[in-house]
Amino acid sequence: MKSQPLEIERIRADFPILKKRVHGKKLVYLDNAATTQKPRSVVEAIGNYYTKHNANPHRGVHQLSIEATEVFDGSRKKIGAFVGATDYDEVIFTAGATESLNLVRYGWGSPNVAEDDLIVLTMMEHHSNIVPWQLLAAEKGARIEFVRLTGNGRLDMEHFEELMEQSPALVAFTQCSNVLGTINDTKELCARARQAGATTVVDAAQSVPHMAVDVKEMGCDFLAFSGHKMLGPMGIGILYGRKEKLQEMQPFKSGGDMIKEVHTTGARWNDLPYKFEAGTQNVEGVVGLSAAVDYLQALGMDSVREHERELVSYALGRMNDAPGVTIYGPQDPSERGGVISFNLGDIHPHDIASILDEEGVAVRSGHHCAQPLMESLGIPAATRASFYVYNTREEVDALMDALAKARRIFCI
Ligand code: ALA
Repeated sequence: MKSQPLEIERIRADFPILKKRVHGKKLVYLDNAATTQKPRSVVEAIGNYYTKHNANPHRGVHQLSIEATEVFDGSRKKIGAFVGATDYDEVIFTAGATESLNLVRYGWGSPNVAEDDLIVLTMMEHHSNIVPWQLLAAEKGARIEFVRLTGNGRLDMEHFEELMEQSPALVAFTQCSNVLGTINDTKELCARARQAGATTVVDAAQSVPHMAVDVKEMGCDFLAFSGHKMLGPMGIGILYGRKEKLQEMQPFKSGGDMIKEVHTTGARWNDLPYKFEAGTQNVEGVVGLSAAVDYLQALGMDSVREHERELVSYALGRMNDAPGVTIYGPQDPSERGGVISFNLGDIHPHDIASILDEEGVAVRSGHHCAQPLMESLGIPAATRASFYVYNTREEVDALMDALAKARRIFCI
């Protein structure tokens, strides 16, 4: 069935911040891969929780604590189901994708990875899906190999295959690059890695917000994402884990609520998912993320994906026609998410981003927390425009007008 086009003006009306003016210009927010704006319904859900239901979940038998528990546990079911995780025990609340990956590094990696084991990453990973594994490799004496990229910013599958033949212990990769926008075939990668005997970790921080994701269909062991990149609050995220993997894992954080019993001689861990949720949880974050999931589900993830594909297609067309622009990543919009990283002549990306900001256009510049990728591209930095449900073609035009101004200033 064909997806329904998004009603952008109606969507924009839900985001009060989009009416803001910056340096006297209309705000054009194109930094969605860093964090997204929040609809009124998310902000109101958090306010509603605090004004009507606030208490500490799982801690009291009084009415408010019961209500807070219902909100907290009910949200877990909904957020898990959003990515196809139908088993409540497999959905762990964390502070974000970074903490989710660190939980796997400590909880699964430390007890299971041994000296000389191979960890396979890719050259397009964000630092959050590199550094935890470097620390693990240093702790265990394991080695890391990075899957090379092809010239058009895709994974070199021959190299991937060579690495799979070495029976890695762990294979960790992004579903969608935060720089190149490349969408990886996670189903194929997970299947091959599992066949090779590896545990698979998928960084879905840039995919879950933008497309329909189903962990069961994908066949991953772990999948990490953050709330703030999908209209929800900062400081909340999810680790999905296959149950048998979570069961064999050790806790990473310890304290209240993650235990069944504690004696002076030791402790026994709580059941899943609470075993990994020590201390008072970020309930307002969970409430906000749950409201964000409601919002995205009402739009339909196929419609979200199609909107971004069309916008990227339009933006790529305009950028390819503009003098001096180098675009990184696949040219085919169906192979990439809503992210376009580029350089303009030899103007430093921070200068570009500052000129764009004067025109009200918010983008990110720098290495985008992906320095190995930058090195492989032979550049220190890039400028990145990243799109979401409320962005329009007119905003792409505003970006292009601001880039034309940068060209005039730098005489290129
Ligand atoms: N990971 C975020 C980005 O790519 C912060 O901008």
